[in-house]
Amino acid sequence: MGGEQKAPSGTPGKSLPFTDKQLIDAVQRFPTPFHMYSEDGIRSTCRRLKQAFSWSPSFTNYFAVKATPNPHLLKLLKDEGLGADCSSLAELMLAESVGLRGDMIMFTSNNTPINEYQKAKQLGAIINLDDISHIDYLHDSIGLPEFLSFRYNPGPRRAGNVIIGDPKEAKFGLTRDQLFQAYTKAKQRGVKRFGLHAMVVSNCTEPSEIVATARMLFELVVEINKACGVEISMVNLGGGLGVNYKPDQAEMDVESTAAGVAAEYDKVLKANGFGAVRVVMENGRFITGPNGFLIARVVHHKNTYKNYIGLDANMAHLMRPGMYTAYHHVTFVPTPPEALPKDTPKKRNLFANKDDTPADAVGKSMAVYDIVGGLCENNDKFAIDRPLPSVPSIGDIAVIHDAGAHGHSMGFQYNGKLRSAEYLYKVDPATKDRLVFRRIRRGEKYGDYFATIDGIWPGVKMDLPMAAKTLLAIAGAGLCVGAGMLLQCRMAAKQA
Ligand SMILES: Cc1ncc(COP(=O)(O)O)c(C=O)c1O
Repeated sequence: MGGEQKAPSGTPGKSLPFTDKQLIDAVQRFPTPFHMYSEDGIRSTCRRLKQAFSWSPSFTNYFAVKATPNPHLLKLLKDEGLGADCSSLAELMLAESVGLRGDMIMFTSNNTPINEYQKAKQLGAIINLDDISHIDYLHDSIGLPEFLSFRYNPGPRRAGNVIIGDPKEAKFGLTRDQLFQAYTKAKQRGVKRFGLHAMVVSNCTEPSEIVATARMLFELVVEINKACGVEISMVNLGGGLGVNYKPDQAEMDVESTAAGVAAEYDKVLKANGFGAVRVVMENGRFITGPNGFLIARVVHHKNTYKNYIGLDANMAHLMRPGMYTAYHHVTFVPTPPEALPKDTPKKRNLFANKDDTPADAVGKSMAVYDIVGGLCENNDKFAIDRPLPSVPSIGDIAVIHDAGAHGHSMGFQYNGKLRSAEYLYKVDPATKDRLVFRRIRRGEKYGDYFATIDGIWPGVKMDLPMAAKTLLAIAGAGLCVGAGMLLQCRMAAKQA
């Protein structure tokens, strides 16, 4: 793999799994902004998680599709033995499109319409109910499946965390009392096999939190068995394994997390005669998050009450900083003249007093900057008051780290800024130096943005296929009208 970028002295940094040269080569081929995901990194993360839980032979991670809903990635994850955790019809369709079926699909949704349950049932997915009232909702419409799971919300018994919130304020899951009622009711209604699920923390880098969720669920398996006479054969610990977004943050110790869960499994389940219970998880972020990067360019410098570095990417490409003030590290890669876009201004450093000599930039080092996009929203910021070791020049590349989960997928089209392309890359096995890229989603075009507007709208140039479809539709309509008129004439002639 290429050389690692070192943190500039004095500022904590994060290394990159590619060299400056490899990146500069990529931006010369693909227009920024774009997302790129490391195939090698994703595969090795899957294997690490599987290895950590190898004490449990039936362990499966159902990848939370919402994190990075791209079928090319789902296919890769399926090859690594992962299932799919879906929460909507579109996510079920994606899972289906890569050949996942039956108990390789988990359906953990909330406020779910019946057509989504119908699709999940048709695929034979494990259905994880978010509310007790949904037992009757399913029973009375499409019928209950043989296997049913319930999502538990421990309310005041657990603290939750910033992203997922205080459990008693969270809209997800059943209360403890409801949980016991639900198993009894589902059993009466003919359900044969059962699962139990909870997701109390999100983006968690503290193993004891995940272990506490496991202990809580394992104890419930025993209690529910005693109280309701129901055997729970699957415990789903949810997603939530975290990412060390900050450079000085320790990485999630997935090995000690898995060992802690194993200890609780032995202590609570095995000791009580429940040693056959299957343990599963539904992590998304941990798998793709650190293996994805949002690549952008510096397009402007602005100096008013603060220093701003403007990128050609915006919050629609990565919403987490704007939505939760989440930290994402940004590494700027100096770009040589031959790799600059043609319209790059000659004066590339407007923060420097004179011309853009390297000495000017050094003079400004360790100043703080807001790194921003171009949306008409003041929270369209990737970073606020971020100290930088040196000023990136206009045209330089910005690499936004850990953007592989809940990044592209949370995108939106406010201000008509279009969603970017996604690429999967790996180190060329032949040269061990070049990166090979595969586009797994094209960037949106204006034709995509305008495609949902009804009627033909003058002033908007459509993409060719769309224009062709419209012409065909007009021609088709014309033919129908013509045929109708001909028929009428003939009938009139006959009557006459
Ligand atoms: C029910 C459920 N499962 C799994 C996940 C995936 O979480 P993460 O990507 O943090 O692992 C989420 C995230 O929102 C979730 O709501």
